[in-house]
Amino acid sequence: MSVELQHPMKAEATPEEVARGRFVSAMRSLILNDLAGDMRAAYDRRAAPAFRKEHGRDPATSREAHQALRGDPAFNIYSAMRVQAQKMVWASVAESVEREADRLSAEAAKVADQDGSLTLDPGLDVPKNVHAIDVHLMPGSYTRGADSLEAGAVYDRGLAVFSMGLMGANLDDIGLSMSQYVKQRFPDFAPRRILDTGCMIGHNTLPWKQAYPEADVVAIDAAPGPLTYGSARAKMQGQAVEFRQMCADDLAFEDASFDIVWSSMFLHELSKKQRAKCFEEAYRVLKPGGLVIHMELPPNAQMGAFDGFYLDWDSYYNNEPYYKGYRDEVPRDLCARAGFAEDDFFEFVVPSIGIYGEQAVADAASGDRAEGVGQETTGRLAEGVMWYGFGAWKR
Ligand SMILES: C[S@@+](CC[C@H](N)C(=O)[O-])C[C@H]1O[C@@H](n2cnc3c(N)ncnc32)[C@H](O)[C@@H]1O
Repeated sequence: MSVELQHPMKAEATPEEVARGRFVSAMRSLILNDLAGDMRAAYDRRAAPAFRKEHGRDPATSREAHQALRGDPAFNIYSAMRVQAQKMVWASVAESVEREADRLSAEAAKVADQDGSLTLDPGLDVPKNVHAIDVHLMPGSYTRGADSLEAGAVYDRGLAVFSMGLMGANLDDIGLSMSQYVKQRFPDFAPRRILDTGCMIGHNTLPWKQAYPEADVVAIDAAPGPLTYGSARAKMQGQAVEFRQMCADDLAFEDASFDIVWSSMFLHELSKKQRAKCFEEAYRVLKPGGLVIHMELPPNAQMGAFDGFYLDWDSYYNNEPYYKGYRDEVPRDLCARAGFAEDDFFEFVVPSIGIYGEQAVADAASGDRAEGVGQETTGRLAEGVMWYGFGAWKR
């Protein structure tokens, strides 16, 4: 079920708007759990056998599973409902944001940047992937309302509806789970400077400051509005994080200036060229002994044809043009091509700290760390979510 955000920067919703959000969350839950199960059954019973009959073998890739399922009633119902539900996510929060715009601006102004912790760059050439299409069907994409609070406020409340409560009260479950995992798995590692790339409103940045309070945490994004909102959101929660507008594939930081370069749900929104550049930039700005660490969708190579197709669906129907291209890449190679030694690469699966608790994260960090890697439900936003991550140390 959707959550009501627990921080003071959120756009307040009327009871009707809250109910509307809950309805959309419940509909998404039905689609992502029940209808997804029906589609899987239709694949096994109808689509894959029909493909086998025609080709003399099973579908071997995500693309072939998609080909086999297209036109099947279960696929059509799942896809049509998911597209509509996605549009309803954003529509369900738009009115509250518009009504609250002036109040939010006034609240943000009270905590506005007196300490220089927000730096926008009006001269930045914001890349096309950020503004040219409505990414995941979000009207206006990340630059909605220019550098006003609008894009951030819509995303914040919209993500709460979208995530059905699976991303935590302040949408920080990924950051909390991953930072706790790193802390437990590498107890002697004491980062002093941490960079979040593609931070949006900083919801998965703040947990790194909580995990490592002594560290300076810097969060960058190419879109100005979300940073303005994120900066106020962080301040209102008493979190000292620096927000800067910049491109992750062209960082304005010195060589060897960070101990961690982190991102969450970011790499799949980049072109192949931008992505390669991001890894090179991460390598450059990391100190020797530093760690690059990403939470992302698990790669296609780790999944069967149906499960690969299930995640790649967004590439075709949810305005995520780079999603499949990203999932076809191999994380180890992405790191290696940027200079990280292959032996210094690792991948892992972290149970959601909000759902499974701190002990489960600690167990994952100390136990069989490959557990969950390659498992079909890893990375799926549905009941029992488990987050996929990978990282590499710079020598
Ligand atoms: C899906 S959001 C990720 C949000 C957040 N990290 C999270 O955990 O949910 C992707 C973000 O990447 C940003 N972005 C896309 N391309 C970028 C680039 N080249 N440099 C910096 N930010 C970029 C977008 O503006 C957007 O805020």
